[in-house]
Amino acid sequence: MSVKIICIAGARPNFMKIAPIIEAFRAQPGIEPLLVHTGQHYDEKMSDLFFRELGIPQPDMNLEVGSGSHAVQTAEIMKAFEPVCLQHKPDWVLVVGDVNSTIACGLVAVKLGIRLIHVEAGLRSGDRTMPEEINRILTDSISDRLFCTERSGVENLRREGIDPTKIHLVGNVMIDTLLKNRDKAEQSTVLDQMGLKVGGYATMTLHRPSNVDEPVAFSNILEAVDTIQRELPIVFPIHPRTRKNIASLGFENRVAAMPGLRLIDPIGYLDFLKLNTHARVILTDSGGLQEESTILRVPCITIRENTERPITCEVGSNQLAGTSTRAILSAYENVKSGRFADRRIPDLWDGRAAVRIARVLAGLAPES
Ligand code: UD1
Repeated sequence: MSVKIICIAGARPNFMKIAPIIEAFRAQPGIEPLLVHTGQHYDEKMSDLFFRELGIPQPDMNLEVGSGSHAVQTAEIMKAFEPVCLQHKPDWVLVVGDVNSTIACGLVAVKLGIRLIHVEAGLRSGDRTMPEEINRILTDSISDRLFCTERSGVENLRREGIDPTKIHLVGNVMIDTLLKNRDKAEQSTVLDQMGLKVGGYATMTLHRPSNVDEPVAFSNILEAVDTIQRELPIVFPIHPRTRKNIASLGFENRVAAMPGLRLIDPIGYLDFLKLNTHARVILTDSGGLQEESTILRVPCITIRENTERPITCEVGSNQLAGTSTRAILSAYENVKSGRFADRRIPDLWDGRAAVRIARVLAGLAPES
């Protein structure tokens, strides 16, 4: 008898996590996966492109919820997902990461008595003003199987009183995807197209509400960016939220006056992996990029006050800079002077995390 598992993907950072899970589940006798896209992200460049590039099968269902306030978006996902569960009667629902789709589908599942699996469990920034932190804490507290990427996740869950038999340290599914696609990404011609040289530019992503919805924080970050772009071109694929805010906060002229800041539309996984692989430094407020830079061994400056991924700082590739102009520039000076600790790869970030998850769920002993 096989177990039926509905797997949820909703927002861009979910897609690279769900790809290896679906692949491993399809290859694992005893597991029957179904894929549901909530439609939280829906633009061609925020969604479809990733499905194509990563070879994710067409979702069995798309809930097409779209954008909205947190309450509206979460509620719409719940309303749309409940009938799916009632119709398909899965044994498990699997959610990844920390976006609104994660908690919305998790809540629907447990209230119907369906067991919940959380992949990337236990990460904690300690900052409850971050919407993702609330999603993480709530999802973990109702999950029946919790798969962790790093030891801090296991420790956080134990401290919060989660039954240790539910917790499994399996590695990082996002890194499964990176390792699988590394060679393919090398074929990308994006560097030539943009006239960039290996090691001769930075990449940047910025989209956290605490950075781009707040005029003072955003302005301070732009000041640091202005200084850096004078010596190093910065490739900045811009998130829809950030683009809107540059206009609404009146920063358009400032951005236009920075010739080294190469603002482009969101780009695909493979082009961005190629860009990051050969960057001198990565500037970001994303969670996933802190992890990807660790594997790529490219210095990462995290423009945040905290991180839920402390292993990336422990192994030396990531500097938690904060958001002040001075702190960002001082982290940049560290990059220039090569002041980085010896870097190593975190345990189990080896491309086999999804296979370990599949084995646990199929009732087999996880391979080491
Ligand atoms: C969400 C996640 C965040 C993740 C980020 C990656 C939550 C709480 N946050 O934030 O953790 O790091 O995705 O991108 O779930 N928009 C479009 N097209 C799209 C999707 C969004 O234009 O395909 C615009 C809409 O104006 C929307 C805004 O972006 O209102 C924000 O989208 P939303 O999904 O609410 O949150 P993100 O900021 O993307």
